[in-house]
Amino acid sequence: MQFTRPMTALVAMGAMLALAGCRQDMHDQPKFFPQRGTSFYGDGRSVRPQVDNTVSRDQMQDAYFSTGMMDGKEGDGLPIPLTKDTIARGQERYNVYCTPCHSRVGNGEGMIVQRGYRPAGDFHTERMRNLPLGHFFAVMTNGYGAMPDYKAQLTPQDRWAVAAYIRALQLSQNAKPSDVPSGEQVKNLHEIAKEKGMPDDFAKSWELPKTAVYGTPNGQDNGIPGQPTAAAKPAAPATAPAAK
Ligand code: HEC
Repeated sequence: MQFTRPMTALVAMGAMLALAGCRQDMHDQPKFFPQRGTSFYGDGRSVRPQVDNTVSRDQMQDAYFSTGMMDGKEGDGLPIPLTKDTIARGQERYNVYCTPCHSRVGNGEGMIVQRGYRPAGDFHTERMRNLPLGHFFAVMTNGYGAMPDYKAQLTPQDRWAVAAYIRALQLSQNAKPSDVPSGEQVKNLHEIAKEKGMPDDFAKSWELPKTAVYGTPNGQDNGIPGQPTAAAKPAAPATAPAAK
């Protein structure tokens, strides 16, 4: 059927009215306003009293599990059971929260770094391999230099799982045949790349593009020992786009 013009306008108006009705969203849902009473609960209070025996996170400050610290120093050892589920959970959380900067392989050259963020730590250096597990927990809990903290996003349980997964990542780049049960076949990444028909540089570490910058904008020291400052390692300017 051919719509006439007034007919089309009418249909459009009808649709608009119907859609406008949908804008109620959650405005009209039943809800409690802070400090206002309710007849729903017997005691007339909408704000519920604290559940008996609950412990606030701040009340657990001295436990290794919630700080990563032992006798005032970063401790070593995993305070949660090391299971396949722990590592799987750690991998999943790591991939969500850490890869944007540290990358999936943990070389510190994730996508945000490739777009200009300060290079994040490379987990495969000698120093990083020798750091106690509590250090990784503490870095996630408190932040580190340019890195924000992740204590709001990751529960202590998850932070330990991520720390355990970082250890697995470190081993993945530094394993020796003696690390696997005898008789187990060991292949290196170059052989796997070849087998799968991937180019050999698939197995090589990648170069950080010129958009990445080191140090603080004005070359001032950011206080992190061993980190190059802008003065020590000037960032090469990104090539300007060719004029059209
Ligand atoms: C927004 C980017 C960003 C994210 C996301 C991020 N980091 Fe970092 N991380 C950094 C940067 C940058 C550094 C180096 C600190 C510096 O140079 O200022 C760093 C350093 C580190 C270090 C090295 C500390 C040392 O002793 O050198 C560890 C460990 C670390 N990050 C763990 C993590 C973990 C685990 C996550 C995920 C929960 C994570 N980071 C998420 C940016 C990030």
